[in-house]
Amino acid sequence: MAQKIFAFSIRKDEEPYVKEWANEHPDIDVDYTDKLLTPETAALAKGADGVVVYQQLDYTPDTLQALANEGITKMSLRNVGVDNIDMDKAKELGFEITNVPVYSPNAIAEHAAIQTARILRQTKVMDEKIAKGDLRWAPTIGHEVRDQVIGVVGTGHIGRVYMQIMEGYGAKVIAYDPFENPELKAKGYYVDNLDDLYRQATVISLHVPATKENYHMINADSIAKMRDGVTLVNCSRGALVDTDAVIKALDSGKIFGFVMDTYENEVGIFNANWEGKDFPDARLNDLIHRPNVLVTPHTAFYTTHAVRNMVIKAFDNNIELVKGEKADTPVKVG
Ligand SMILES: NC(=O)c1ccc[n+]([C@@H]2O[C@H](COP(=O)([O-])OP(=O)(O)OC[C@H]3O[C@@H](n4cnc5c(N)ncnc54)[C@H](O)[C@@H]3O)[C@@H](O)[C@H]2O)c1
Repeated sequence: MAQKIFAFSIRKDEEPYVKEWANEHPDIDVDYTDKLLTPETAALAKGADGVVVYQQLDYTPDTLQALANEGITKMSLRNVGVDNIDMDKAKELGFEITNVPVYSPNAIAEHAAIQTARILRQTKVMDEKIAKGDLRWAPTIGHEVRDQVIGVVGTGHIGRVYMQIMEGYGAKVIAYDPFENPELKAKGYYVDNLDDLYRQATVISLHVPATKENYHMINADSIAKMRDGVTLVNCSRGALVDTDAVIKALDSGKIFGFVMDTYENEVGIFNANWEGKDFPDARLNDLIHRPNVLVTPHTAFYTTHAVRNMVIKAFDNNIELVKGEKADTPVKVG
């Protein structure tokens, strides 16, 4: 009998890539649903050898057990994060899990770069003026990217691409990372510590993970070390930023502009339609309506290129697991 992979919560924009993978693997039976994986929906995967998944909803002990009851313990995530999986239960049931740690650094870096340029040119203010029929130039004057000192915090996959794009604009780029990349080091990008970066940068862009150590790394103390009129860009993780401290600094003018693609309380708010309903977060609502704040709902990653890579890579991983081979990007279970 042909081996079978079943995918959960396949969105419309993912469907073409599921079909692409299935066409390229005619010997494998592929089926999918748009439903999330829950204890109730797990049975949809009946007869499958592995599942491909992606959801914010927790993979609870009950959910994992329901899959295991169908004889399925090979699970491939289409995303990076595994913190919503009950790893103790997964280990107990003998699950093998994979993720997609890198799907398109350019998607996020490009978004951060676009938003950096937009905030410097005050495009939100100009667009709103134009829409009202006010076609005057002043006082909406822009700043050029090449006149900035761009401070990049974290020079991993995404930070490095952002640096290249900002250099393309002609900006001076400096960076900090406790684990220095030898190539970047040889080119002299690194400053010695974060304080140095805060002191020099006119734009600060965060490209670091949300670890315990990095929680609220942007706070009243770190903001006080920054240059007056600094622009802050967070397309990484909401938990990196003390939002209240940033709001104070926006009010005082210390921060010129704030780009946020992530927000510390975003779960349950982003990727939902609040039109015609009570907006659930007054602080976020205020930020959305400020002329010098650009909010996007965690969409930096959301490109056709990235979505395709997430789907194809997850299926590639899953077939490796199903065939009993070593998957390319396994996750430590337990
Ligand atoms: N907005 C989105 O749609 C989106 C999508 C994917 C990833 N992200 C986020 O982007 C961030 C970066 O992703 P990546 O793929 O480049 O990760 P990566 O692991 O390749 O790089 C992260 C870098 O940060 C460095 N770092 C950690 N703590 C630091 C600190 N305190 N100061 C300076 N550097 C520090 C690490 O040494 C590493 O080099 C992650 O937080 C990820 O969650 C956001």
